[in-house]
Amino acid sequence: MSTLHQISSAALRLLPAETGHGLALRGLSAGFGPRERADDFRILAQDICGLHFANPVAVSAGFDKNAAAIAGARRLGSGFVEIGGVTPRAQIGNPKPRLFRLAPDRAAINRMGFNNKGADAVLARVHAAQDGSTPLGVNLAANSDSADPAQDFIALVEKFAPAADFLTIDVSCPNSANGQVFLDPRALEDLLACLNIARDASSGSPVMFAKLTPDLEDAHLSELLEIMLTAKIDAITLCNTTTARPDSLQGSNATERGGLSGAPLFEMATEMLRKVYVQTDGAVPLIGVGGIMSGKDAYTKIRAGASLVQLYTGLVYEGPGLIQQIKHDVAEHLTLDGFANVSEAVGLEHRS
Ligand SMILES: Cc1cc2nc3c(=O)[nH]c(=O)nc-3n(C[C@H](O)[C@H](O)[C@H](O)COP(=O)(O)O)c2cc1C
Repeated sequence: MSTLHQISSAALRLLPAETGHGLALRGLSAGFGPRERADDFRILAQDICGLHFANPVAVSAGFDKNAAAIAGARRLGSGFVEIGGVTPRAQIGNPKPRLFRLAPDRAAINRMGFNNKGADAVLARVHAAQDGSTPLGVNLAANSDSADPAQDFIALVEKFAPAADFLTIDVSCPNSANGQVFLDPRALEDLLACLNIARDASSGSPVMFAKLTPDLEDAHLSELLEIMLTAKIDAITLCNTTTARPDSLQGSNATERGGLSGAPLFEMATEMLRKVYVQTDGAVPLIGVGGIMSGKDAYTKIRAGASLVQLYTGLVYEGPGLIQQIKHDVAEHLTLDGFANVSEAVGLEHRS
């Protein structure tokens, strides 16, 4: 990362968290950051769910809720882009402040509440950015005041299916009661059946991912996984932020309400990844998210079972060069371990 990037990242961290994030996003959409996308290491390329991923690393959902900086995310080196969460109608989210840094813990707590410009505004940007260069996905969520959250998801699938390569059904946000409805197994089963029908009837054919919360008992997680496998979900994203507060937290914002992300989430999220990989027998691609702050962390997720990885909070602390660094380090680990392609390392720790 250039000195200029390091200085500007440090300066942004002096601002209130949401202000700093807004400026970073505006800078990225205005063309700040890397001018051009660097070439990817060939060892990192994979085909998953019928899509070509030049590398397995991306910025996770919530970073660019309104699809304002898709080109910027690609220039940062993302192998795929997931924008959103998007709700059918625009909504302002929870009152501010709603995003807090925990600097001593390299963590954040947020209770944003799905602030976004709504499906129509975002759809136009997704269409405009769809150039086939990287898989482009949309993270979907129900409006907070919706009387029928299932209908919200159906409407979103119908709307975005023609434009997106993948759609992520977010039933994991700790700040949305209308997403958590689908943690009820029967409700999830019905929802996924309806969404499959909506997707199959649409003019596009995006693959469908589902994103889970780490705050699930094992038996509950197993039941939801069975339902996802039966519904033939294409990939599972593990995981969203946690409402847990590890005793180790030092930051003065540790008692804020919301979802915790960043370094303290790493072990919990990776353990969940291991469990899901074992239970699904590696049959469904997994996307490992939660606490990735380095290439070593990303490689640990891959060996635990992730075919792809995403990160958000790591960018706040390590700066925009983190994605390039992770790709470089993962490629190096793969070469040292004697692999010809990243797919060979997926789930490795369960085989050795
Ligand atoms: C401010 C903020 C907003 C987020 N918004 C969303 C969202 O809209 N949809 C979603 O699926 N995840 C959302 N997330 C969760 C992230 O995508 C990710 O799962 C989580 O932060 C853990 O990854 P990390 O430790 O690398 O940050 C959000 C996270 C943060 C910090």
